Amino acid sequence: MKRIFFSDNNSLVPDREIKIIVEKLSSQKERMKSGVEKRYETDYASLYAPFDQDARHIIKKEIARVSNYDPSLIVVIGIGGSNLGTKAIWQAMQGFCNTAQKIEVCYADTVDPEFSACLIKKVENILINNKTVALVVATKSGTTTETIANFELLLGILKKYRPDNYFQFVTIITDHQTPLYDIAVHHNFGLLSVPKKVGGRFSTLSAVGLFPLGLMGIDVDALCDGAASIIRDEIVDEKTNDSAQSAAINYWHYINGKPMRDIFLFSVLLEGIGHCYRQYIGESLGKQFDVQKKEVRVGITPLVSIGTIDLHSVGQLYYGGPRDKNTTFITVKKMRADVHVPQMNEFDSCVKNIQGISFSAIMNAVISGVKDSYENEGLPFTSIELPEISSFYLGQLLQFAMIETMFVGYLLNINPFDQPHVELYKQETRKILAHE
Ligand code: PA5
Repeated sequence: MKRIFFSDNNSLVPDREIKIIVEKLSSQKERMKSGVEKRYETDYASLYAPFDQDARHIIKKEIARVSNYDPSLIVVIGIGGSNLGTKAIWQAMQGFCNTAQKIEVCYADTVDPEFSACLIKKVENILINNKTVALVVATKSGTTTETIANFELLLGILKKYRPDNYFQFVTIITDHQTPLYDIAVHHNFGLLSVPKKVGGRFSTLSAVGLFPLGLMGIDVDALCDGAASIIRDEIVDEKTNDSAQSAAINYWHYINGKPMRDIFLFSVLLEGIGHCYRQYIGESLGKQFDVQKKEVRVGITPLVSIGTIDLHSVGQLYYGGPRDKNTTFITVKKMRADVHVPQMNEFDSCVKNIQGISFSAIMNAVISGVKDSYENEGLPFTSIELPEISSFYLGQLLQFAMIETMFVGYLLNINPFDQPHVELYKQETRKILAHE
């Protein structure tokens, strides 16, 4: 079976050093493997999610129920780990999957009043025209301010236009023990649960991502199969070791003076995937204390760059500025569509050698040019190539990034599954809202 291709030829880390670090990861790999066997019992619960056919069956039933209403608009209400995976996969697949033309998707993931006012107008317009709006509320804790505020706002609108059956158009995805779960039961909303030990940013392959994506028409089986294939190859069957190699390289650069990691994606449709990667690295690895509760203040600062656009915004910094970054280039071998520069020879005076050639050929020339110039400049990088953008390969890529992050967390001796400091702003916000 085809898979994403990882290359560390230009990592600039000596092979023997990578080997030593990778060896350190073998005990961790065993723990992760046993985590898959123990299903949802351990911190590695997310590694079982793509194998869970029972959960998928329940999710598909809910997809079928809501699809029956033929929604014109899906509003995904959630933030951080509860929507970034969904957003990323939809962005990458939008326009290239069955139902994409019919369904519009919006995200309510902040409390920006101007944005929300526009969203409400859009929702009302659809409801007035007797079409359907489906609300998908994803929040593991059920207590996230932004999410609950948006849900209340949109539920109010739905109730106004559909007073008798508003509840049919709502699906709540949350932990079993949240107050929101009880509210969902009370209102007879559609309800899906998230296994307790599957943490937010690692939850895309649970109901959190699979339900909204399935409703949008994304092939969730292919997505899970892709993720599962990486878990099998890298952890369960130990056929390949790419995620451990990548983790070792990133850790090595971090402790050797490169505190930043640039995820440089050569596809505008993969920007959301970059944001997922950024969250895995940022939220999982940026920690004040290690697992022994000793203050360590570690963290790799993630950057997301989009090629070719950002070559004209931050390229100068990357080439000419401080040598404090390690880069992962993410590229796509076969684009799903292509266009050609028309043959207008007069434009040769502006740019030579592009008349009549395809955009993919120009893109490939830029990618090779960037890699060659990084190599010439002594800038370290690894590469991940997707054979093409598909649900299967996106599942592989996200799972690869999650496993790699767990490995780096182990090497940094921190807990990659928590995010205690996010509470700081939440506590202060609650105080301000309570006028304390
Ligand atoms: O990765 C995480 O755990 C976080 O990013 C959460 O997903 C985010 O804070 C949203 O939390 P919740 O799903 O509880 O609303």
